[in-house]
Amino acid sequence: MGADYLEVKVPATSANLGAGFDVFGIALDKPYDIIEVEKSDMLEIIATGRDAQFIPTEPEKNTAGRVAAGMGKKVRITIHRDIPLSSGLGSSAAPAAGVAFALNEMYDMGMSQEKLVRLAAKGEKVASRVEHADNVAPAIMGGFVIVHRQRIISLTPENIGVVAVHPDIIVSTRRARAILPKKLSLRDISFNTASAASMVVGIMKEDISLIGKSMENRKIEECRSKLIKGYRHVRKSAVNAGASGVTISGSGPTMLAVCDMGQREDIARAMEKAFSDSGVKSEAYLTTIGKGAEIIG
Ligand code: HSE
Repeated sequence: MGADYLEVKVPATSANLGAGFDVFGIALDKPYDIIEVEKSDMLEIIATGRDAQFIPTEPEKNTAGRVAAGMGKKVRITIHRDIPLSSGLGSSAAPAAGVAFALNEMYDMGMSQEKLVRLAAKGEKVASRVEHADNVAPAIMGGFVIVHRQRIISLTPENIGVVAVHPDIIVSTRRARAILPKKLSLRDISFNTASAASMVVGIMKEDISLIGKSMENRKIEECRSKLIKGYRHVRKSAVNAGASGVTISGSGPTMLAVCDMGQREDIARAMEKAFSDSGVKSEAYLTTIGKGAEIIG
């Protein structure tokens, strides 16, 4: 389309869905960031909104700045942030994905979605040191994605109720990755493979019960749950309130429950109460699997 200015809406995302570590990701209908990109004579980053003071604005330290530099473009990028920082909801991925998507449109670059995901993943490496695409891929493509090296498969299930509860706890992706075991036993790999395979069937059939059960995983969640105060109580409360499954969103600390759309309110209140009982403030998003980046202005 070619333009000097674009405004893009980019969704929060949730990676892993339990057993699909660094492989599965979903786009969430909310929260989302708005990214403005304008042609300029220098590369510049401006951040506003939630947690804006913590977002690095030096282009080489910013995930979106890295993407623009990598694509060889000088633009002014304004990030209107609403996705909470270090939450496990893809806050570092959203600007990287949004800028890759916007530049492709602005400069008529004709890149495939897979190529844009690769470019955005390079930007996200600034935040987590590892080039994982399970947040940037759904942020660009929407729906549920499977990242298999260079190949990205996306599905678009509808009416999947999702509750994401973000506790007021800081967990950095770097730390949450560092505590994981370097190796898994064959039994654990077998269990996680079965869960991941069932998850794909659950998503294809839009079967909320199967999706929830398929979030069960070995080792990843067990290790990371130690970083989330109240984890067990929150998990149990969500299930008691009707969730078909609960897992840690990405590297945490947000906890994600899957349910029927109509059960979201009850589950959100139960999870918030459980965090509160554990002395942790939290904030719930009643959401669903949604669209990827889109131009809004
Ligand atoms: N797959 C990544 C991880 C996502 O779990 O570390 C980080 O948001």
